[in-house]
Amino acid sequence: MGVRTAIFPVGGLGTRFLPATKAVPKEMLPVVDKPLIQYAVEEAIDAGIENFVFVTAHGKEAVENHFDRNAGLERALIESGRTDLLAAAQVGNTTPGRISYVRQMDALGLGHAVWCARNLIADEPFAVLLADELLRGDRPPLADLIDLHDRVGGNVISVIEVPEEDTGSYGIVAPGAIDGRTIEVKGIVEKPDPADAPSTYAAVGRYILEPAVMDVLGEGRRGAGGEIQLTDALAEVIGTAPFHAVVHDGPRYDCGTKIGFLEATIALALERDDLGPDIAATLARLLPQQTQGS
Ligand code: G1P
Repeated sequence: MGVRTAIFPVGGLGTRFLPATKAVPKEMLPVVDKPLIQYAVEEAIDAGIENFVFVTAHGKEAVENHFDRNAGLERALIESGRTDLLAAAQVGNTTPGRISYVRQMDALGLGHAVWCARNLIADEPFAVLLADELLRGDRPPLADLIDLHDRVGGNVISVIEVPEEDTGSYGIVAPGAIDGRTIEVKGIVEKPDPADAPSTYAAVGRYILEPAVMDVLGEGRRGAGGEIQLTDALAEVIGTAPFHAVVHDGPRYDCGTKIGFLEATIALALERDDLGPDIAATLARLLPQQTQGS
């Protein structure tokens, strides 16, 4: 069966970005001029996703408002003749019923967040996108996962190779057969020490999952950090369905960290016709000063 629904866990507190995230959800912080969450939503739309489920929490109302229509703003833009801005004001797929919100209520981990959406996936395979991971490519990175799922079914995740010393920040795959960018997954472990890591292939926030994963998550077992881990549920269903990883081969920005967020902002500004030359000139002007000052 095709993949029609995507889950976006957006319940996190965003403490790494305080004070910016005291009153503004982390997912709403802009990379250039677009909230971080919108990049993930647009990737899903471009990959053919039709239904969007946000797993939110207290204080995340701005995310709901962002993906709603703002009739007053649209009217003001039309009346003032600034219709060129209308598309930017109308975000994503605003067809009523395509977007759902469910609250996580307790911060028990990523696996728990995904499980909170169990009644909204229609018992079909579904996608999960972690907005912190801003992935770019010639085609939407999620589309590669959906293509593979269409061919072989089962669970499919996106991975990148990380430095050995960083395995403790990721779900790490134990690889089987490797065919180009496709890796058979024999095992997966959440945040292993480098000494225990089965490889340096790290899960990078894109998943296509069979609905059976929800049943395992529902058992509520705690894993790394005392949290209900999505990685652990995936490990548990190995052997019951095919499980593959696709190596992401485009740019990737870890917007869960300040340096990754800043890198994304600069890189995406450099890509743009309206900003690229100016930001390049600005960087060229600032960098020698920075070197002198250090
Ligand atoms: C989560 C997942 C982890 C994955 C990572 C990607 O961890 O649990 O398996 O590798 O996202 O960014 P988190 O960064 O939320 O701790």
